[in-house]
Amino acid sequence: MADPSISKDAANWKDLHDGWVPDTWPQKPFFLAQNLLNADGDRHARLRGPVQRAFTTTRVRPLRTRIEAITDALLDRLEARAGEVIDLKQEFSLPLPMTVICELIGVPDDAAMREQFHRLSANVLRIEITPEESQQTWQEFPAALQRLVDLKRAEPGEDLTTDLIAACDAGTLSPEEVVANLLIVVLGGHETTVNLLNSAVLALRQHPDQLRQLLDGDMTWERAVQETLRYDAPVRFTMPRYTTVDLEVEGRVIPKGALVIVPITSTGRCPHSFPGADQFDLARSDSHRNLSFGYGAHRCPGAALAVAEAEIALARLFTRFPDLQLASDQAPPRTAAPGVNSISELPVILRPAAQDTPPHQDR
Ligand code: HEM
Repeated sequence: MADPSISKDAANWKDLHDGWVPDTWPQKPFFLAQNLLNADGDRHARLRGPVQRAFTTTRVRPLRTRIEAITDALLDRLEARAGEVIDLKQEFSLPLPMTVICELIGVPDDAAMREQFHRLSANVLRIEITPEESQQTWQEFPAALQRLVDLKRAEPGEDLTTDLIAACDAGTLSPEEVVANLLIVVLGGHETTVNLLNSAVLALRQHPDQLRQLLDGDMTWERAVQETLRYDAPVRFTMPRYTTVDLEVEGRVIPKGALVIVPITSTGRCPHSFPGADQFDLARSDSHRNLSFGYGAHRCPGAALAVAEAEIALARLFTRFPDLQLASDQAPPRTAAPGVNSISELPVILRPAAQDTPPHQDR
């Protein structure tokens, strides 16, 4: 991921030059989009700078109070549904990061716009999408984001979109780059964190003794988040990269111009890097060495925010509902989206804290 002989720029992709990548391939617009994810060197630094500044630890810290309030409001609503089977993904794990990212980029309190951003992000990631749906998505998404930019130009706020407009006015970004970067922030800002929350809930319910340690204060929520990032990484693959030289890896040559991706989920389960990798174990001291946020120049700028969201969400969810139970003993289905490791739905039954009783074993 940090090897300078491997580029993020599709201009180095031999199959593209040779005409092997048809325009009807639904993933083509994502692979060729002119955003920070697909750029190298100085161009990447120029595109990333204004985004990265919004997510420094100093700017994320004051957000904690807001994340706590959003989390509590969602949990208050769920309190009334205790005892019912609910889809935790739809009711909690998705709306939390979606609300946070929308507030960060200054989306007005407009449910339709938020729903549209989520639908379009999910379409970008779906594998089972027709060329027509893909084309429609890649027209509608930038147009919707452009409307947000127009709104913020008319009424600037304390948000990332306003910051990006300022970078545009200063000549750092073009108007198209503002929209292209916003698209990655919206998508990356929620389609990943939702997976982290769902996977953590699942792993902790499947390991009630470890959940008990967390609830008793014998283990930190920070550990739970880091171990989930290692054990069940939210992003399956990095975005594509392209070799700029013939590259030898463990005796095999990957030719110049090849498309390569890093399977992040597998790195967390590598037995050489993580002995006993297939065990979910909060006591491990090496979980934080996971590569779930990538590595090198493209390492996720939203990492501190995502970790803060997950720590707050998990602590408050389980403190309020320590007896949260999985509603099914089947492994929950995963979404057909190759890039993300996404649980499609997570049916659970919430039960408010009973006095002095340990969490129940799941069925
Ligand atoms: C659990 C949550 C998250 C995970 C696992 C995750 C994972 C990643 C990974 C693996 C990359 C690098 C991809 C590559 O090298 O090809 C990345 C980049 C990125 N992420 Fe995240 N991310 C998460 C949350 C977020 C959040 C909350 C935001 C924004 C608020 C965000 C915005 C971005 C952006 C803008 C990039 C592009 C960085 C660049 O290319 O320089 N991510 N993320």
